[in-house]
Amino acid sequence: MSEAPGAQRVLEVIDADLGYGDLQVVFGVSLHVHRGELVGLVGGNGSGKSTILRAISGMIRPRGGSILLEGEEVGGLEPHALALRGLAHVPMGRQLFPDMTVEENLSLGAYLPPARERRAEGFARVYELFPDLHTKRREAAGALSGGQQQMVAIGRALMLHPKVLIMDEPSLGLAPLLVREVMQVIRRVADTGMPILLVEQNVTQVLKIADRAYVLENGRLVLDGPTEQLRGDPMIRRAYLGL
Ligand SMILES: Nc1ncnc2c1ncn2[C@@H]1O[C@H](COP(=O)(O)OP(=O)(O)O)[C@@H](O)[C@H]1O
Ligand SMILES: [Mg+2]
Repeated sequence: MSEAPGAQRVLEVIDADLGYGDLQVVFGVSLHVHRGELVGLVGGNGSGKSTILRAISGMIRPRGGSILLEGEEVGGLEPHALALRGLAHVPMGRQLFPDMTVEENLSLGAYLPPARERRAEGFARVYELFPDLHTKRREAAGALSGGQQQMVAIGRALMLHPKVLIMDEPSLGLAPLLVREVMQVIRRVADTGMPILLVEQNVTQVLKIADRAYVLENGRLVLDGPTEQLRGDPMIRRAYLGL
C-alpha cells in the first residue's frame, strides 16, 4: 500500500478556531478519526463539543483551521454538500418524526440521490444491525422505547452509506439502563467498520466503549489517548469518574 500517512484518517480537524459572532468558544482544536475507529469527544456542559460537531457538519463556518474528509478540505461547505461526501450526523435529541413509521423515518436518511439508489441495501443493513426495528418497521417511531428511537436515529444516518458518523450526546435524557444499551448499540455499529466520532458528557460510558478519546475543557483539548490509558489517568479519575 502506498497511501500517504494521513490517508487512514477519514476525518481530521486541524487547529480549529470556532465561535458565534464575536464570541470564540473553541480554540486551536485538532483531532482525527481513523478508519474503523470509535473516537470519543468528552467534556462538561458548555465546553464546546457541539460547536465542534456543528463545524464538522457544516452548520457553522470555521473562523480558523481546517476540516478534512478523507484528506480533502471541507471546512465551510454546506451541510448537504457534506452529506453528499459521506458525512452523517446523528443530532442531539434524535429528532425523529414521531407520527411517521420507523421505516418512513429511516427512508428520510436516503433522500440524496446516491443513497436513494441504494435504499434497499440501506434497509437490509439497518435491519440486520437492529432486528427490533425490522419487527417494528410499520409502527410509529414515537411509540418505540428510548433506546429503539436512538437506533432509528442511528439507522437513519446509516441509510446515507456514510464514510463517517458523528453523534451528539446519544445518551442524553435516557435512563441509566438505556444509556448502557445505546452505548452497546454504538459499539456494535463501530464493529461493522463504521468510523464514529461520539460526543458525550457521559465520560464513564465513552471510556468503556471507545477506542480513543479527546477531553475538552473550556474550548481547549486538555488530554487525549487510548481509552484504556485514559481510564487509569489520575486527572480523569478525579475530575470525571469521581474516584
Ligand atoms: N448559537 C450560539 N450562539 C452563541 N453562543 C453559543 C451558541 N451555541 C453555543 N454557544 C456557546 O458556546 C459554548 C459552547 O457550547 P456547546 O458547543 O454547545 O457546548 P457543549 O456541546 O460542550 O455543551 C457555550 O458557552 C455556549 O453558550
Ligand atoms: Mg452539546
